[in-house]
Formats: sequence, C-alpha cells, structure tokens
Amino acid sequence: MSQQIGIASDHGGKVLKDKITCFLKEQSLDIRDLGVSLDSSASVDYPDYAAQLAKLIASGQLKRGILVCGSGVGMSIAANRYPGVRAALVTDEFTAKMCRLHNDANILCLGERVINHDRALEFVTIWLNTTFEGGRHQQRLDKITEIEKALGSSQK
Ligand code: RB5
Repeated sequence: MSQQIGIASDHGGKVLKDKITCFLKEQSLDIRDLGVSLDSSASVDYPDYAAQLAKLIASGQLKRGILVCGSGVGMSIAANRYPGVRAALVTDEFTAKMCRLHNDANILCLGERVINHDRALEFVTIWLNTTFEGGRHQQRLDKITEIEKALGSSQK
C-alpha cells in the first residue's frame, strides 16, 4: 500500500503509537504522525487527537488511520462522530480482519493498556492487508451513510 497512513494517540496510547509508527516506517510506509509526542509528559484529551485524524479521513485527505488511547474506547467513540469515518476498536485478529472485510473500517482503534503490543502489530498488519469485500456489505455501509445524511439534515 503506497497511500499515507495517519496515526494519533493521547498520553495513554503514545508508547504503542510509537511502536506502531516505527514498525510501519521500517516497512517504508508513509506515516503521518498527528501527535501526541512520545516525549510529552502532558495529560491530553483524546477527542482532540481523534478529531485531528478523523477530519482528514472525513475530508478524503487520508484513506486510513490508526488511533491509540488507553483502552481504545474513547478514540473510537470520538472518531465515529465524523461522517464517513468507520472506526473499529480491535482486540483480536478475527476482528482486525472482519472490520475490513465487512465494515471497510478506515480507522483502527487500539488500547495500549489492554492488548499485548506484539499482537497489536499483528492486528495492524492484518487490518492494512485486508480488502473490503463489497457486495451486500456495501449495501449496509450505504445505509449508514443514509443515517449520517438524515442526522445531518435534521441538525440544520
Ligand atoms: C486516559 O487516562 C484514558 O482515559 C484514555 O487514554 C482512554 O482510555 C479513554 O478512552
């Protein structure tokens, strides 16, 4: 895959974010690190970092991205507020694969304090290398897009 991959975390996910970034750079992948810096000692708010990445996905500037926080939960909740974002919280290999095959997940969310970090690298590899199946699954994604549109127009 030659497309740039975005990555961001809060303080609770910065160690795993750094491991994933190094792992992907070693494979010559183009990584856009949106913070927080590994060197920072600040406690930051995960919605700020989810927003950085989710906006780039929603606008089509990036196709795929990875978000890490302590549990992965806050990042997934925040990212899924953005239209066109399909953020999947992954804790096992099966979900890493299925969220691509069936859900075309464009953001992978991981919890630094939950999962084994070597396994997390495996989840990233599976997620990056699995292609959306389309077909009946596209129909289902179209229904999600319809929900987004209906909610968007009801808020105007
Ligand atoms: C930060 O302590 C922690 O709440 C955050 O990283 C995340 O787990 C939230 O969902």
